[in-house]
Amino acid sequence: MSPLDAAPTALIVHAHPEPHSFSTAQMATAAQALRDAGYRVDVLDLYADAWAPTLAREEFAPAEGHFKPQAEQMRAVENGTLDATVKTHLDRLLAADLLVLSFPLWWFSLPAILKGWVDRVFVMGAVFGGDYGLFGDAALAEKRAMLLFTTGGPSESFRPGGAFGSMDDFLFHIHRGMLEFVGFQVLDPVVTYGPARMTDQERAAALDAVRASVALIAADSGTIVR
Ligand SMILES: Cc1cc2nc3c(=O)[nH]c(=O)nc-3n(C[C@H](O)[C@H](O)[C@H](O)COP(=O)(O)O)c2cc1C
Repeated sequence: MSPLDAAPTALIVHAHPEPHSFSTAQMATAAQALRDAGYRVDVLDLYADAWAPTLAREEFAPAEGHFKPQAEQMRAVENGTLDATVKTHLDRLLAADLLVLSFPLWWFSLPAILKGWVDRVFVMGAVFGGDYGLFGDAALAEKRAMLLFTTGGPSESFRPGGAFGSMDDFLFHIHRGMLEFVGFQVLDPVVTYGPARMTDQERAAALDAVRASVALIAADSGTIVR
């Protein structure tokens, strides 16, 4: 058995259309920090893979009448007829001890391609619902998840009373509504504010800070948000 067989696995799901972006450099830095800490790192690069983000009727076996997406997900799990790509991504999700969603903040949220990954891969009947409950009873209980992202705005704008309001408030729908919903323990996010306005030196320092934060998480001392 190789040491990697016993290693914890991190799945990084990355969503940026530009391979030379700061976000992509940040993702690569985090991936390397996890590898350095002994993780096996699996990277899903949604734009590079041309991931199709829309949950559509056509991905399911033909059904008569009214289309109910979650009922179709349950049926596909029971019958073993999940879309082949969704099934592969679901298997990679279930194999991970740590999920990292890596993205630039768009409209205070996930880019659509990443939201569509959650829509299609957090399958009812496989990660919650059916044999599983919600939150602590869902399939991914005991596993950890974190957001790794960049912003356009400066950090002051995201403080309570700042121009954009409290970061915790608008991350709630992701932390509670997606990640905790399927069982994850949510870690503090790792955020680089306004990389576009940084000098090269500041960007290098920001990547060092990402490396240090991810190393702490990998050493199991990442703080759980709630
Ligand atoms: C469609 C879109 C929506 C955006 N929404 C926000 C936002 O809500 N808040 C914010 O601070 N920046 C926003 N931005 C700016 C990006 O977050 C910023 O350009 C990116 O994080 C910088 O990282 P990058 O150089 O890796 O792209 C938005 C950018 C785009 C393209």
